[in-house]
Amino acid sequence: MTSLSIFPFSLIFILALLIPLGYTDATKTLSNDIINKTCQACSLIKSSNFSYGFCSATLAAIPVSHVTNLPGLGLISLELALVDATNTMLKIDGMLTTNESSLICKTCLDSCLELYSDMSAKLEECVGEYLSGGNEDVYSWISEMMQGTALCEGEFEGIGLKSPLTRENYSLSQLYGMVLCIIDLISPIIKSRPSISA
Ligand SMILES: *[C@@H]1O[C@H](CO)[C@@H](O)[C@H](O)[C@H]1NC(C)=O
Ligand SMILES: *[C@@H]1O[C@H](CO)[C@@H](O)[C@H](O)[C@H]1NC(C)=O
Ligand SMILES: *[C@@H]1O[C@H](CO)[C@@H](O)[C@H](O)[C@H]1NC(C)=O
Ligand SMILES: *[C@@H]1O[C@H](CO)[C@@H](O)[C@H](O)[C@H]1NC(C)=O
Repeated sequence: MTSLSIFPFSLIFILALLIPLGYTDATKTLSNDIINKTCQACSLIKSSNFSYGFCSATLAAIPVSHVTNLPGLGLISLELALVDATNTMLKIDGMLTTNESSLICKTCLDSCLELYSDMSAKLEECVGEYLSGGNEDVYSWISEMMQGTALCEGEFEGIGLKSPLTRENYSLSQLYGMVLCIIDLISPIIKSRPSISA
């Protein structure tokens, strides 16, 4: 539990500071335009469960999204995924420390905690890798984690319980979908490689 306190990531405001100058385009003042275009493109090329509404509302809420470019939106989505995974980890940790006798499936929560902690750590690595241009690695790591979110839900479903983390699965999966789509848009070559798109 002590290790959890080292994550100060609920600070969405910090996002603005984390976007390097190269990722912003000061000449672009058409506020929602890039967000709408990107989310529209993604809802066309991605699966039907990609939500245009989630994509545009989520990005529009981050001030710097309005003055960035496509790689900048990718970085913002990645950082939002990191914040999301970390907050979910803290939420599960909170659930685990409440009254033991009212816990639903402690072992499920334990494995979800492990899953979200691992994703949080991996997402930190993804941010660094993305900033150094390793889009291809980021793409395959995120694809893997996209499948991984289902594991937590499955823990509960497997024993006939309703997962208390369905909303968290939804938002993180959507954010992963956004990152994957934006990388596709930036470097379409990656998408056509069978080993990664499989
Ligand atoms: C972007 O989409 C939102 C809602 O979907 C709309 O209100 C807004 O006018 C759009 N902005 C632009 C620049 O197209
Ligand atoms: C824990 O929950 C049980 C049943 O839900 C309740 O009877 C008990 O008073 C609770 N204990 C504490 C310390 O809240
Ligand atoms: C998790 O959420 C995504 C939508 O973002 C959905 O497609 C997927 O089916 C959900 N997984 C489970 C196991 O419910
Ligand atoms: C959409 O559903 C497919 C198939 O169930 C899943 O592999 C994919 O991760 C989902 N995408 C999103 C954005 O949730």
